[in-house]
Amino acid sequence: MLRHSLVVRVTHWINAAAIILLLMSGLNIFGAHARLYWGDTGSVEQRDRQWLEIGASPPWRTPTGWIDIAGIRLDTTGFLGVSQSRTGSASFVAFPHWATLPSGRDLATARNWHFAFAWLLIMNGLLWLAHAIITGRLWREILPNRRQLSRAQLWHDIVEHARLRFPRGEAALSYAVLQRIAYAGVTLVLTPAVILTGLAMSPGMNAAWPWLDALWGGRQSARSVHFIAMVLVAAFLVIHLVLVLLSGPIRQIGAMITGRITVEARQ
Ligand code: HEM
Repeated sequence: MLRHSLVVRVTHWINAAAIILLLMSGLNIFGAHARLYWGDTGSVEQRDRQWLEIGASPPWRTPTGWIDIAGIRLDTTGFLGVSQSRTGSASFVAFPHWATLPSGRDLATARNWHFAFAWLLIMNGLLWLAHAIITGRLWREILPNRRQLSRAQLWHDIVEHARLRFPRGEAALSYAVLQRIAYAGVTLVLTPAVILTGLAMSPGMNAAWPWLDALWGGRQSARSVHFIAMVLVAAFLVIHLVLVLLSGPIRQIGAMITGRITVEARQ
């Protein structure tokens, strides 16, 4: 039977590719100034506005990489601040070369990738949303319904997930409540927040719509919210992939490619 329509499948895979390339190019851009601030302006002198920094400390023969969040410093040697370059030497970059696009320090190229895929994400997202609204799928499949949001149903779904027991048979043909909360959260809250904070950082948009960066409490606050929303999208992606892998990857990914699925017998 048909599980996912063509529009859902095409927009899903374009979205997956765009999000991954946006994450990687965004990490490269972040590395050009690996500090985050609240307010309108931010610089190395404005320590009082800074809440996050990624850096490295001596001794330079055996350097330490760290992340400092609101004054709490965590050792992240090998991943953040200091990682291994492709030649095996120590590389003093915020995120390791394998996580960024392009892999070396190159702000101009990273911004080109980032802005190109940001527009693709926006167009693709609008197409998905228009389709979801016009077909009624948004209410039928994505937003949790009142019955699903009952305490008993929520608790049941949490317990089933914790036991790694996923719906089978007819029940698997519709998203369960935690899945709907995650999909609605990522599509209707996080992605719009990423897009609006991204636009708020653009000088052209600042000139056209000054209210856009005021909405977030200033340009540096918009950059901070952009980063936090990115971390949440990345966390969604990791959990999403783990759950797809645990709940029958060939069947699930096959259905997201071909659109078709066979109804399994209930256990
Ligand atoms: C690249 C690896 C990815 C794989 C293998 C993958 C796989 C899947 C599969 C199999 C489903 C259907 C689940 C089901 O029928 O129960 C699905 C749905 C979904 N995925 Fe992904 N996904 C990936 C990346 C992403 C990314 C990066 C995002 C967004 C940040 C995303 C957001 C969604 C959403 C919102 C749905 C529901 C779509 C709808 O029904 O309209 N996925 N994914």
